[in-house]
Amino acid sequence: MPCEVKPRFVVLYGSQKGQAESLAEGIAEVAEEHGLVAELSCLSQNEKYNLEKENAPVVFIVSTTGDGEPPDNALQFVKRIKKKTLSTDHYKHLRYALLALGDTNYANFCNCGKTIERRLQELGAKQFYATGYADDGVGPAFPAGTSLTHSLPPLSQSSLNVPALPSPYLDVSLQEVDTVEQVRNDAADKVPISRAVKLTRGDSVKMALLLELDISAHPMMTYHPGDSYDVLCPNRTAEVEDMLHRLGLHDQRNHKVHISLRKDTKKKGAQVPSYISHNISLLYLLTWCLEIRSVPKKAFLRALVEHTWDGVQRRRLQELCSKQGAADYNLYVRDPSLSAMELLTAFPSCSPPLSLLIEHLPKLQPRPYSAASSCLRYPGKLHFVFNMVEFPASPGRPAGRRGLCTGWLFDLINPVLVFPEKAESSSSPALPKIHVSLRPNSSFRPPSDLSAPFIMVGPGTGVAPFIGFLQQREMERKANPEAIFGETWLFFGCRHRDRDYLFREELEGFVSSGTLSQLMVCFSRDDQEEASTSAAARPRYVQHNLLLNSQRITDILLKQNGYFYVCGDAKNMAKDVNDTLMQMIQTELQLDQLDAMKRLAVLREEKRYLQDIWG
Ligand code: 2AM
Repeated sequence: MPCEVKPRFVVLYGSQKGQAESLAEGIAEVAEEHGLVAELSCLSQNEKYNLEKENAPVVFIVSTTGDGEPPDNALQFVKRIKKKTLSTDHYKHLRYALLALGDTNYANFCNCGKTIERRLQELGAKQFYATGYADDGVGPAFPAGTSLTHSLPPLSQSSLNVPALPSPYLDVSLQEVDTVEQVRNDAADKVPISRAVKLTRGDSVKMALLLELDISAHPMMTYHPGDSYDVLCPNRTAEVEDMLHRLGLHDQRNHKVHISLRKDTKKKGAQVPSYISHNISLLYLLTWCLEIRSVPKKAFLRALVEHTWDGVQRRRLQELCSKQGAADYNLYVRDPSLSAMELLTAFPSCSPPLSLLIEHLPKLQPRPYSAASSCLRYPGKLHFVFNMVEFPASPGRPAGRRGLCTGWLFDLINPVLVFPEKAESSSSPALPKIHVSLRPNSSFRPPSDLSAPFIMVGPGTGVAPFIGFLQQREMERKANPEAIFGETWLFFGCRHRDRDYLFREELEGFVSSGTLSQLMVCFSRDDQEEASTSAAARPRYVQHNLLLNSQRITDILLKQNGYFYVCGDAKNMAKDVNDTLMQMIQTELQLDQLDAMKRLAVLREEKRYLQDIWG
């Protein structure tokens, strides 16, 4: 039978005279009223809880006796957590709240609670509600206890301008079964990596890597220069594990997931996500189906409010998804690409049900990469190039988070990586396989008319498809020695000649063989003091080299029916190159801005100005 997933809530007490115990009972009752499964126990029985693996939030209610001693039924627990051998991440999965009872008429007020609190913090536990100190010397402890229970009810609409809560539309349950599908079964599209090369040297540049895949057993994957293909990568194991712990579902990771539409849903067009297949485990769902790194949308934050117990944290979530909080949302969530897990870590009192994640997290998308080779030059092989993405530190995230796919690929190929410093790979351990599928790009192709001239602009890893273009052209030239080939120009840019000049030897080889008519390279960080953003000085960026060749380029494009290709960063480079191209047309043809824009638009329409850009 499928079992409904109801969140658990653990209440542990250490009580000498019964007051902490009765408070604990009250809190457990309130928790039950709010749809949680409360588990009540005294601390001396806490062996039955593996607190270091406890997924559910835990509330400690502890009194202090004598001269600041723990109550008898908390003694063992306090001794255990005081052990010096415990590591600082011993309780890293534990989320807790603590209510300490004491009496200011005695020495060492609330000492037991304070000791437990200090050790929990030292051992990495995260607090989901501010610690309460109840003083029996001034009155009963109940007010402090009830304030904790008050944090449980869902928040009513506040004065903030927060749109109405979207109602949930999925029912999700987990079922223990003998076997569920644990791995992707479409192994047919898995291809082996046959070579991996580090293309850059030194630390001060982004690391660029080349992967070669052996597609000889997959004739359907034959590609043309300019095509790209999708790489399917799983979420990181450690992040999936953290998420399982965080949802309190680690023990049920191998259970089968049942998802259905709630009968009472009023959401128009609501449906069970089609990309989640039927016979999968929870582990598979989080590993292969959901983008757990995705940046939480405001609707997601809004839905989380209801599942957040701590009033301060609830208020903050509400702020972030309100109109007034738009700037904060951009600053703390959108701009640093905060992940769902990082958000949950920042809001430890938030315990969303699994259904909410399925409703709000998007499908895990494959990542596209441009082919950096030609099938004519490397039959049965496919190359692609990527930079290792590293995210800077931001609030809620330490430095060192790497791009999901590039980080995963790097870990896969690290053992087989060939370094430029070494001639050969030292050993050849078993080469891993990855899931790829071709996504044909019908327009970003070299001109079909071999006599048409073309200009390529591809700084950094943007050079990738042009390596494919030029390999193809070289093979065509060999096969047709009599044919007339159009001029080819490549504008490449990187930071340093000796560190990130990708494919230098191959490009210089194309020049020697006549395959590449003009190779224009600039270095943005060599002799920086001499470099300038103006084209008059030494060119720094590709567009400065374009300007220096303004007349030749406009001739090729507008008089010789040539082609103009741009590949790489969309946000800055492609935009600047576009502006430069417009400026060149304006100057060379003596046009005003509007007419220059029209000429560019015509080039685009004729598919002679083509872009393969990202970011
Ligand atoms: P930078 O990193 O020194 O700023 C590949 O990434 C090359 O593109 C690098 O040399 C990089 O320079 C350069 N680049 C950065 N911004 C650019 C822009 N707006 N236009 C052209 N090239 C740019």
